[in-house]
Amino acid sequence: MGNIFAVTNQKGGVGKTTTTVNLAASLAEYGKKVLMIDLDPQGNATTGCGLDKDDINNSSYEVIMAEARAADTIISPEGLGFDVMPTNSDLTAAEVELLEIKLREHRLRIALESTREKYDYILIDCPPSLSMLTVNALVASQGVLIPIQCEYYALEGLSSLLRTIERVKQRANPQLDITGLLRTMFDARNNLANQVSRQLINHFQNKVFHSIIPRNVRLAEAPSHGMPVLAYDRGSRGSIAYMALASEFMRRQKKANG
Ligand SMILES: Nc1ncnc2c1ncn2[C@@H]1O[C@H](COP(=O)(O)OP(=O)(O)O)[C@@H](O)[C@H]1O
Ligand SMILES: [Mg+2]
Repeated sequence: MGNIFAVTNQKGGVGKTTTTVNLAASLAEYGKKVLMIDLDPQGNATTGCGLDKDDINNSSYEVIMAEARAADTIISPEGLGFDVMPTNSDLTAAEVELLEIKLREHRLRIALESTREKYDYILIDCPPSLSMLTVNALVASQGVLIPIQCEYYALEGLSSLLRTIERVKQRANPQLDITGLLRTMFDARNNLANQVSRQLINHFQNKVFHSIIPRNVRLAEAPSHGMPVLAYDRGSRGSIAYMALASEFMRRQKKANG
């Protein structure tokens, strides 16, 4: 069953965490059962869901290191609408520790085997690097969502991400596919943003989501209140954009799965 998606781009600050948290919330709003996995040692997705990183016993670190079962790390925060496998800075150590372990690229996939069928969608927030953690996310996933901020250097680095995806596909996970590239923090008044957007469509055509996430201050404020934007300000442009993305995402999935 293919229902795991990595939200990745090795550039920092492009909207990975914002997209993971808010797409999870929007899919849940559509009645789907969703798990969000925080695989970035910075733990922004964890705190963005109102969880205290210092208060976590079992995290994605223990899962990756096979010290805890996935089911024993998953939390259902009250009122959030979806489940969370949180993380904290312990996960930083996993990068190094994984290097000495057998099947190191398959740890997350193996750990999720018994959990994945409980969910309609599992979304993984990746760190800003093409590290062993990101590779674990790619090996576990059916699809990849790539948030892209349409600015001058947006396309730089994209080719090494695509190469990594291709390599994982050939060596470890033949079903892996790019689900879509997502334009984030978009400002339609900005000429450069429009230019980069056109380049993306020329290059990737229908791999670019029609839904566009605008720059919206409510999206930036919501995490400091520990909630997705839907809970923070339902009527905001950010909420509406992520609901539209969720709807498009589900349609694409249906199509991809026949
Ligand atoms: N659409 C948006 N509008 C306004 N601010 C945004 C938007 N998306 C993300 N941000 C803000 O930009 C910063 C980087 O976003 P984030 O999702 O953390 O990126 P990443 O996970 O790729 O590092 C955060 O402060 C976030 O709140
Ligand atoms: Mg992040």
